[in-house]
Amino acid sequence: MFDGSGAKVLSAGDGLGAGIESTLLDFTAKRVLVTGAAGDIGGAIAAAFAAHGATVLLADRDHSRLLARHAEIPGSAWHLFDQTDTASVQQLAAWAGDVDVLMNNAGILRTGDVLDATPDEVQQVIQTNLIGPMQLAIAIANGMAARRQGVIVNTASQLAFTGAATRALYATAKAGVVQFTRSMASELGARGVRVVALAPGRTRTRLNAHLLDDEDEYRRSIGRIPAGRIGNTQEMARLALILASPLSDYIVGESLIADGGYVLE
Ligand SMILES: NC(=O)c1ccc[n+]([C@@H]2O[C@H](COP(=O)([O-])OP(=O)(O)OC[C@H]3O[C@@H](n4cnc5c(N)ncnc54)[C@H](O)[C@@H]3O)[C@@H](O)[C@H]2O)c1
Repeated sequence: MFDGSGAKVLSAGDGLGAGIESTLLDFTAKRVLVTGAAGDIGGAIAAAFAAHGATVLLADRDHSRLLARHAEIPGSAWHLFDQTDTASVQQLAAWAGDVDVLMNNAGILRTGDVLDATPDEVQQVIQTNLIGPMQLAIAIANGMAARRQGVIVNTASQLAFTGAATRALYATAKAGVVQFTRSMASELGARGVRVVALAPGRTRTRLNAHLLDDEDEYRRSIGRIPAGRIGNTQEMARLALILASPLSDYIVGESLIADGGYVLE
């Protein structure tokens, strides 16, 4: 079956799974920069790309964990950077050079009564979770646009869509990430750069282990998740891989929410 463009349109007769080839998840000869790679979701993402052939560039501010991650992933390279420092973000982009995929993933969580948030905390959460990722995406996208090739996957959050008590600064920064993703995608799509976001739901990592280890908090968390459990880092890594791959070529500017249904409540 063919449509007006002349491109082949698959029909049932083409066989189950036709057009879905494992080679589409082959990242051999691709350079993938993962920020927050010393962390749990970033580490799982980095390992997933490496397992699919990519040369993985690991970036984080946590020196010892970054070295440990580097040791786990043969062939990886690492770079220490601070996402709250503009010069450091630019240095990371220069060090990384030509990048095929940017996993713009480093972030911090701030919990607590909004009335207790200090001006410094406001600054730090927005700088880390929004300004730094924007600066990095722009720096990397310049090279991608010049080569007319590249994918940027920003890490947002389910809370970007719902907001949440005690997480006002974080949810606001992540909502910014969602709009930045849409706007940048719209501007760069025709220049060969695809921009999307992954919006994880609650996933057990160092970011929130202290909260999930509290039984009341844990029950509250899963009580509102239709899937009845929190997510895991492997699930996020799988989706990151798929979003960055040609399997998702027609997904542009979207933030994929992977939250077990939390936002539906
Ligand atoms: N865990 C969850 O439930 C959850 C849910 C939604 C979104 N997210 C997002 O996923 C991403 C990864 O988080 P995670 O859960 O793996 O947490 P994590 O703490 O394990 O990883 C975050 C990493 O980011 C790094 N980082 C923080 N600030 C930095 C800075 N200024 N400069 C450089 N690196 C910095 C940390 O050192 C850490 O290695 C974050 O953007 C987070 O907001 C997590």
